[in-house]
Amino acid sequence: MWHSPLLFKTSKAMIRKILKWTGIVLAVVLLAAICTYTYISVSMKSRMNKAYVFEKESIEIPSDSAALARGKHLVAIIGCQDCHGSNLEGKVMNDDGAIGRLVAGNLTKGAGGLPASYEVSDWLVALRHGVHQDGKPLLFMPSHETALLSQQDMAALIAYCRQIPKIDNTLPENDLGPVAVIMSYLGKMPLLSVEKIDHDKPMIARADSAEGAAQGKYLAVSCSGCHRENFKGGEPLAPGFPPVPDITRAGHLGQWTKAQFIATLTSGKTPEGHVLKNEDMPWKMTAQYTRGELSSLYDYLQSIQ
Ligand code: HEC
Ligand code: HEC
Repeated sequence: MWHSPLLFKTSKAMIRKILKWTGIVLAVVLLAAICTYTYISVSMKSRMNKAYVFEKESIEIPSDSAALARGKHLVAIIGCQDCHGSNLEGKVMNDDGAIGRLVAGNLTKGAGGLPASYEVSDWLVALRHGVHQDGKPLLFMPSHETALLSQQDMAALIAYCRQIPKIDNTLPENDLGPVAVIMSYLGKMPLLSVEKIDHDKPMIARADSAEGAAQGKYLAVSCSGCHRENFKGGEPLAPGFPPVPDITRAGHLGQWTKAQFIATLTSGKTPEGHVLKNEDMPWKMTAQYTRGELSSLYDYLQSIQ
């Protein structure tokens, strides 16, 4: 192919022009992205640092063995140990560049744990309102779920947690990465439970303990964080995780018998032969529900279209 020197010159000039404009466009896009991220990050920081004030509350904390056993059961079925460690000694839940470092605190009275001054009213403010002793929001602590516990269960839970053995475990601070900041800003990660709670709602005195859909509804609060409030599932909880399935009658569950449902939640294997990883679907937690509780969950979920 033969080019005239003139044509060659013009095309070179044109390429230079195109490159220049591409550079300008890229720079503008980059600058816009930086500005947006700065705005999002500043706005999230101010929400994370807001100090809330809630009236101090106290409830009677039992010490009988039945209440302590109930508290221990609640810790198991709500999944406190998945985040706070098997002895509630605290745990770094995640530590990478994108999501950042997420830390669930040491709930014992050992070194690095709850201060000696942590009273029943502080437990209540954490579990019912989603804030620390100083009124600052708890990050990623599902207080909007524990806020719905009955007073009887709340008291049993606190009673149990207050007498667990001390463990020394000093943990690093939370440090959110850019993906966690952006996803939380977009409401796709449950960062600030305090913003989701109806703080004026009183605790119900006690939950329906008879087997059936009413008990199932009370228990299903622990599933709603991942399967969504309508239990219809949705997008993955974080990048790299599987989508969350519909667990109402409209999903696979509609085809399952009660026995198959119970087998799935206690073995991690669905009737279709799908193996659930505990990191995705915490079936080791659901395996700790009593048969009666699982039966109630089935009745409730089957009642949703
Ligand atoms: C999804 C993970 C997750 C689950 C499940 C969970 N927590 Fe937490 N919890 C956290 C994180 C993360 C924090 C730390 C928040 C912070 O420091 O901002 C926290 C903080 C707390 C605090 C506040 C401690 C303080 O320093 O003020 C208490 C109390 C607590 N959790 C109790 C519980 C109990 C009891 C359960 C079970 C009923 C539970 N948590 C379940 C993640 C979780
Ligand atoms: C931490 C998030 C999380 C919680 C809490 C959770 N699930 Fe899941 N669940 C998932 C994810 C994610 C999957 C899909 C896993 C996969 O595809 O491998 C799943 C799958 C399932 C399945 C299989 C559905 C199907 O179509 O195969 C059932 C049933 C189920 N969950 C029931 C429950 C119930 C009941 C609860 C509450 C007691 C609950 N889950 C709590 C995340 C969760």
